[in-house]
Amino acid sequence: MKAYRLNAFEGPKALEMVDTPARAPGPGEVAVRIRAASLNFRDLMMARGVYNPRLKLPIQPVSDGAGEVVGLGPGVQRFKIGDRVAINFMPGWVEGELDDDKARSALGGEAAGVLAEQVVVPESALVSIPGNLSFEEAATLPCAALTAWHAVIECTRTRPGDVVLVQGTGGVSLFALQFAKAAGATVIATSGSDEKLKRALELGADHGVNYRTNPDWDKAAREHTGGRGVDLIVEVGGAGTLPRSLKAVRTAGTIVLIGVLTGAGEFNPIPILMRSVKVQGVFVGSRAMFESMNKCVSAHAIKPVVDRVFAFEQAQAAYEHLASQAHFGKVVIRGCT
Ligand SMILES: NC(=O)c1ccc[n+]([C@@H]2O[C@H](COP(=O)([O-])OP(=O)(O)OC[C@H]3O[C@@H](n4cnc5c(N)ncnc54)[C@H](OP(=O)(O)O)[C@@H]3O)[C@@H](O)[C@H]2O)c1
Repeated sequence: MKAYRLNAFEGPKALEMVDTPARAPGPGEVAVRIRAASLNFRDLMMARGVYNPRLKLPIQPVSDGAGEVVGLGPGVQRFKIGDRVAINFMPGWVEGELDDDKARSALGGEAAGVLAEQVVVPESALVSIPGNLSFEEAATLPCAALTAWHAVIECTRTRPGDVVLVQGTGGVSLFALQFAKAAGATVIATSGSDEKLKRALELGADHGVNYRTNPDWDKAAREHTGGRGVDLIVEVGGAGTLPRSLKAVRTAGTIVLIGVLTGAGEFNPIPILMRSVKVQGVFVGSRAMFESMNKCVSAHAIKPVVDRVFAFEQAQAAYEHLASQAHFGKVVIRGCT
């Protein structure tokens, strides 16, 4: 079968397509023919060597995939040949709290990823794809959507009338926008592009703030809440945005820490205690959360925002498109045909 390998920490150019034997599923395992994979910022960090510089190369990259069941190992009960499935980002995290073993099972790093014709995973890693989604759309769910769901619903139980702020128009943020709207919240979206803000408003955001032309986006966000502050900030920026998030959030509000688009660094923690802000880290989610999320995706007919679909042979170009930050939503790679 065809599969990609990341051979060096040199960015997308170090991706190579190879021929490798397909493994037969063992007890409790399922073979999935990958029909689509989607890229996350993590895949870029992995390729650049900044996610885990000690990672042993080569790896089979990319965490997020959807496809159909083509092989069943002995004892598999939950799936049958032909079922449409998506693979949980951490196959080892079925339910309960995160622990170190579950975190180590994340795909596309130490554990082989999905940028291949076929993968073999434990049946416990799989969820059924919502009927309203194509494979390309379903491939966007395992990391970006589940992280957003965990932040907006599992952690904070967003309710009608809450105000949620999402940063930028990448994969996580647009799903957070969609889930917050499904929960009845008011959404403030930020972006560095007026054109993208227009699209975020069309997708359901109530207010848009351009963080490039309006670097005081925290003040603008507060104004949209009548001065009270935002209930929940889905923080994907990291050290570069956190100080302003701490100004935009309401007293006793929540910041869910998800990303480091602007890098890691120092910040002043005093406002956290003086204003009783809840700061919660989130690392994707469990299969149980994935199943709850899929019910919401079906019930609200939520359509993932797919920016562009690349052919399997164009994986490098797909990575470069993600790196350009020209995208709105998710970048997808179609399975090998
Ligand atoms: N903790 C977790 O489990 C988890 C899961 C998924 C992702 N993440 C992290 O979350 C972050 C986002 O991931 P992603 O896959 O959604 O990324 P992505 O799709 O590549 O999103 C990139 C977008 O973020 C926006 N952005 C860039 N700099 C910004 C800034 N200073 N302020 C506000 N927005 C900014 C830009 O949108 P505009 O062009 O609209 O400005 C850019 O297009 C990454 O750091 C990723 O590693 C963490």
